[in-house]
Amino acid sequence: MAEHSGTLVALVTGGTGGIGMATARKLGERGVLVVLGDLHPEGGDHAERALAGLRDDGVQCRYVRCDVCSYDDVERTVARIEEEVGPISILVNNAGIPQATKPLWELTLDEWDTVVRTNMDSLFYTMKALLPRMVARNYGRIVNMSSISGKEGNAREGAYCATKHGVLGLTKSAAKDVLQYDIRINAVCPALINTPLLEGLPQSQIDYFTAKIPLGRLGRAEEVADMVAFLALSEAVDFITGMAFDVSGGRADY
Ligand SMILES: NC(=O)c1ccc[n+]([C@@H]2O[C@H](COP(=O)([O-])OP(=O)(O)OC[C@H]3O[C@@H](n4cnc5c(N)ncnc54)[C@H](O)[C@@H]3O)[C@@H](O)[C@H]2O)c1
Repeated sequence: MAEHSGTLVALVTGGTGGIGMATARKLGERGVLVVLGDLHPEGGDHAERALAGLRDDGVQCRYVRCDVCSYDDVERTVARIEEEVGPISILVNNAGIPQATKPLWELTLDEWDTVVRTNMDSLFYTMKALLPRMVARNYGRIVNMSSISGKEGNAREGAYCATKHGVLGLTKSAAKDVLQYDIRINAVCPALINTPLLEGLPQSQIDYFTAKIPLGRLGRAEEVADMVAFLALSEAVDFITGMAFDVSGGRADY
């Protein structure tokens, strides 16, 4: 990875997924050098396709294999990006997985653990690894991906709902730890968005959640990415921290 001094560097976890790619494109269009972190092997088809798609649109980007469920992996990845690319000014904690749709008592301990580690523990890992560096530089913008399931309790989604509520709690608290260092931490709460994540959900569940959206359609990844880019780059965010912003077609009115 080559060095790019003077350019803002962003790490987007789950960067080759639906919302991750859309976010990378929006940030890249605004001149940010985007590092996609995801589970696929470096140099493999999936990673290379993602990079080629972005580069075709003029986005400066890199790919690193990083499992956000492993603190060691996260710490190594942050150190490597900062050494090979430059200081990370923007962190988008986007990696996440759905859960098997079933009542809480039918979830296995492994299923619970995997969802909690991927969707919530990972935010502690990335922020633990990166915040001391941002504090030392006196600057940072962090955007955490929650969900409407972080505000409401949906049946047969206990682990997912718990983690997305957790994302909001972590966002509100961590934001106040770093106020004085010009670091702002906010969250986004999408309703159902048309991405590969929906392939893991039964059609009945998709129909049920779509019917709950007053605007009557699924959201688009680009619509979520616009909000992420605002929270990562707008000067208005100087006075905005610890907040949750819905991209939900009017779903939650609070
Ligand atoms: N799609 C929706 O309806 C929706 C709604 C609300 C919130 N969200 C949240 O938005 C985020 C992105 O979702 P998406 O719809 O783009 O899903 P997606 O499945 O398209 O992308 C998720 C990405 O995360 C990656 N990932 C999974 N586990 C990982 C790990 N351990 N380490 C690194 N990367 C990992 C996957 O490989 C994938 O590329 C998730 O946090 C999700 O919970 C999605």
